[in-house]
Parts: sequence; C-alpha cells; structure tokens
Amino acid sequence: MDREVSQSEEMTERTFFMLKPDAVRRGLVEHILQRLDDASLRMVAKQQLVVNKAQSGALYTEHEGKPFYDSLLTYIHSGPVLVTVWEGSGAVALVRKLIGATNPTDAAPGTIRGDFGLAIDEDVVHGSDSVQSAEREIPIFFPGLD
Ligand code: CMP
Repeated sequence: MDREVSQSEEMTERTFFMLKPDAVRRGLVEHILQRLDDASLRMVAKQQLVVNKAQSGALYTEHEGKPFYDSLLTYIHSGPVLVTVWEGSGAVALVRKLIGATNPTDAAPGTIRGDFGLAIDEDVVHGSDSVQSAEREIPIFFPGLD
C-alpha cells in the first residue's frame, strides 16, 4: 500500500548555491552558510574548488554574449569558490529570498547580498533561480550526487 506523503515532503527541493571568490577571499563562508542553516535548510553536498572553463561555461550559458559575460567569467575564475547543494521545503525560492536582489545596492538589509555584497560584479553568492535551473546546475559540479 502507498505511504501517505506529507505536504512538506512533497515540496522538498534541492538547490545549487555557490559562494563566489570574493566571499571566500573575504572570510565570509561561515557567516553565509549560517544564514541557510538558520532557515532550516540541510546541506547535502559541499566542495571548495577553482571553477574551470567547462563549468563556468555551463553554469552561465544563458549569459553568453551579454556585455558583462567576459568579466563575469574572469571574476568566477579569480579564486576558489565553495559549491554547495541544499535541500528543504521550497529550497529554491527560500535561498533566493535569503540572497536578496541581484544588485547588492538594491538588496534589502538582512539579505546576504544586502549585508555582504559590494557591487553587481562582486555579488558574493549565486543561487539557482528555479527548480529546473537547480536540476541543470547541480550536476555541473556534483555529477554523481544521488
Ligand atoms: P548570478 O546569480 O551568479 O548569475 C549571473 C551573474 O551575472 C550574476 O549573479 C552577477 O554576478 C552577474 N551579473 C548579472 N547582471 C550583471 C550586470 N548587469 N553587470 C555585471 N554582472 C552582472
């Protein structure tokens, strides 16, 4: 017989969350991870690495050709990042809420970019913008993740 599935189980999602080179350089990793932890999300994968060209090309494929594309890649390759995967109810939207607006100058106080971001091209973190994006982004960095 089928087991009943609770509503929170049904909405459990995974999202990809990256702490960019400026976050690592500035020693913000623990402060930022704490924000997601405080929101009852569960980290299921974590790795520090220097993003290679195949990974950045795949992650930012939708931005190819935009005026900021080359500087975005230079920034992302500029030092180690911490790539992570988080799981929880409504994880994608929740992490986007915790991150705040794309441009740190527009991001509300209390959000990660509002508190730590310096500029649109030094915006500390990346989080998947949809469940479909998360499903595409997670295997770029964690190809074997269950
Ligand atoms: P991210 O969430 O990683 O997704 C795309 C990234 O491109 C974004 O964060 C910013 O780092 C960067 N970005 C987006 N818009 C601009 C812009 N107008 N100028 C410079 N960088 C941008």
